[in-house]
Amino acid sequence: MNTVLLDRNLALEAVRVTEIAAIASSFHMGRGDEKAADQAAVNAMRDFLNELDVNGKVVIGEGERDKAPMLYIGETIGKGKVKVDIALDPLEGTTITAQGGENALSVLAIGEEGSFLHAPDIYMKKIAYGYKYENLEINIDDEPSKIVKEFANFSKIRLENIVVCILDRPRHQELINEVRSTGARIKLISDGDVSAVIATSIDDSGIDLYMGTGGSPEGVLAAAALRCLGGKIYTKLIYDNDEIFERAKKMGVIKKNQIFETNDLAKGDVMFSATGVTDGTLLKGVRVNNNYAHTHSVVMRSKTSTIRYINANHNLNIKKYRSYFK
Ligand code: FBP
Repeated sequence: MNTVLLDRNLALEAVRVTEIAAIASSFHMGRGDEKAADQAAVNAMRDFLNELDVNGKVVIGEGERDKAPMLYIGETIGKGKVKVDIALDPLEGTTITAQGGENALSVLAIGEEGSFLHAPDIYMKKIAYGYKYENLEINIDDEPSKIVKEFANFSKIRLENIVVCILDRPRHQELINEVRSTGARIKLISDGDVSAVIATSIDDSGIDLYMGTGGSPEGVLAAAALRCLGGKIYTKLIYDNDEIFERAKKMGVIKKNQIFETNDLAKGDVMFSATGVTDGTLLKGVRVNNNYAHTHSVVMRSKTSTIRYINANHNLNIKKYRSYFK
């Protein structure tokens, strides 16, 4: 692992990157075009990443090189010398944005070389809870009802007061039934599990537990945030076939039923930045007023656990913003 610790000034630069990606995609909010919203975020994020004073390698990105023309896994970004690994999702919640829904974010995590699990972009089973309960140890393979009850015992929260957040998908019907059978309540979300996992560590979010299956890149990004906020995530990659498992092995996965916890997904000194695209539990979305875009971001670092919320006004009459309007 790189011995050069992340420069703290990088935090502000990281926020500039998620701000511009959020502004660019917000121009497409509610227009029903997921691809355009995502492309705008990717273009803007890439341009600003290339201004960073780092020698960065994208390890969690838009996809494999042959499928993603920009911000593909392995792409190098930045104009500096310090080697860092980059995990990103320029627009987490493409459908949310296209439909004008809630909780879309632009997300970036930066770590020392070797910080992030090089996970293939496949489904990942995830169970997460917040910083207050991070000493609780569970077995991700246990029945969901057993896990919810263990969480209730440990946290001393009565079962009927526990809220479990789950992605609203047919594949989760059995999970939903099991969780309901415990007496716990469920918040079903249409998309955006990075935000949902982070919410478990935000005191007034109204979410105690996150359970379900979502994207593996989102799992790594959420783990980076929990490294800074506190909290715990247990995950397991889901392989549809042997070929995907072979690919994962090349990326460092050892066995099929391997369990990855927070520190396995994001280790060492990591920095996490997110800017709201649409309003959400964690952050407000981009608002435009009198040709100024107002952004709400959070930037945090695992080394110090400092959490900074940054509000900014951006003058949209300036050319660099207008170039992302298309
Ligand atoms: P995108 O922004 O890439 O569309 O991801 C949104 C999301 O809801 C993630 O938060 C989640 O991990 C994943 O999709 C779930 O995948 P699926 O929609 O296939 O259930």
